[in-house]
Amino acid sequence: VTPLAVLASRVRYEEKQIFAALERRRVPYVHVDPRRLVAGAGGDGPVFTVAGSDASSVPGGSPGGTAPGGTAPGVPRSSVLPGTVALNREISFTRALYAALLLEARGVRVVNRADVIAVCGDKLRTSLALAAAGLPAPRTMAALTPEAGVEAAELLGFPVVIKPLVGSWGRLAAVARDRETATTVLEHRAALPSPQQHVAYLQELVDKPGRDIRVIVVGDAVVGAVYRYAPTGAGPAGWRTNAARGAETRPCPMSPELTRLAMDAARAVGGGVLGVDLIEAADDLLVLEVNHAVEFRAFQAAHGDAVDVADAIAGHLLDVASVRPDPRHHRTSGRPRHEGRVFEGRDHEGRDHEGRDREGRDHEGRDHEGRDREGRDREGRDREGRDREGRDHREVTR
Ligand SMILES: Nc1ncnc2c1ncn2[C@@H]1O[C@H](COP(=O)(O)OP(=O)(O)O)[C@@H](O)[C@H]1O
Ligand SMILES: [Mg+2]
Repeated sequence: VTPLAVLASRVRYEEKQIFAALERRRVPYVHVDPRRLVAGAGGDGPVFTVAGSDASSVPGGSPGGTAPGGTAPGVPRSSVLPGTVALNREISFTRALYAALLLEARGVRVVNRADVIAVCGDKLRTSLALAAAGLPAPRTMAALTPEAGVEAAELLGFPVVIKPLVGSWGRLAAVARDRETATTVLEHRAALPSPQQHVAYLQELVDKPGRDIRVIVVGDAVVGAVYRYAPTGAGPAGWRTNAARGAETRPCPMSPELTRLAMDAARAVGGGVLGVDLIEAADDLLVLEVNHAVEFRAFQAAHGDAVDVADAIAGHLLDVASVRPDPRHHRTSGRPRHEGRVFEGRDHEGRDHEGRDREGRDHEGRDHEGRDREGRDREGRDREGRDREGRDHREVTR
């Protein structure tokens, strides 16, 4: 069986749920810590993990990248081979993106794909993709210097929301109610070290009914939706209704319009396992953003047993795994092909998931034909069919 890879540098509630769902479905998987990934940029060598100091193991899966047996630093431990399906749960945008690029270059199918992460991880790119797909969104403008950003704010009309291109949990998003505040916020952004922070991304502040909507899309299906209400007593800061800011989460019924918008938004960014944020304007539903590394703790708590996000993700991974790998990645060099074999995933004794060591011998020391180190089969016969006393097969059976 082909083990799946789950890329995650932190194992949070969501990852634990996903591991549990895979175990319930008896799907073998390997947890790979992207902080330990190493890959060459050329050739067709594997992407592998090396030992690290902050070892953590995962029940049920062999902890790819950890070195319980004291593997020397720098020694490759497990390889991610072509044909693998990898779920990308890396929390860092940069690591998620580059891990996906490295793995995809080797024919590993990553959910979500690198191009999806690149679009979702950048709010301006997301807005461009949503607009190209003709989806309704808050009026949005961008500018490349603080000065031009202030003029964009004037054009939008105050109050405006100013958001960082990269970021989540509502962090660093600000409301500017006048020109002076917009100038201050944009000047502060321009003083931050990341050049991406210097791009001004502005939106009209939509007068929403104290809540937003989060829809979770997995592959071709909507798993469900929740309303997220600003916590009581949040005051003016309550305009950001992220679960990470303490929003109260309640189930939201799926209307045909909500389903269609969420699916279209997910498709507009390339599809996968996604969280679509929407807000209710006076007459319309507007798409705010699409998240590529969706958290679902509050969502799952709101729905209880009615939905199972982790299981939907596990099912989607199996669907992806059942599709034949892209033939462009089939290598024609004399090297052995690894299709279907996917993960080398050796433990600290150097044994793979079948329990075979690097010579291909099992725990009894037998090779793939079942022969021991002397070349004898399970009945003690050598390759000529002779037993330990030298009698051949015909003599014995005659
Ligand atoms: N233009 C807007 N008008 C009204 N509320 C907004 C607007 N943009 C964001 N918000 C609120 O702020 C929250 C965070 O914004 P969002 O664009 O989803 O970024 P993040 O990546 O930080 O979650 C949203 O869930 C919503 O409650
Ligand atoms: Mg959001």
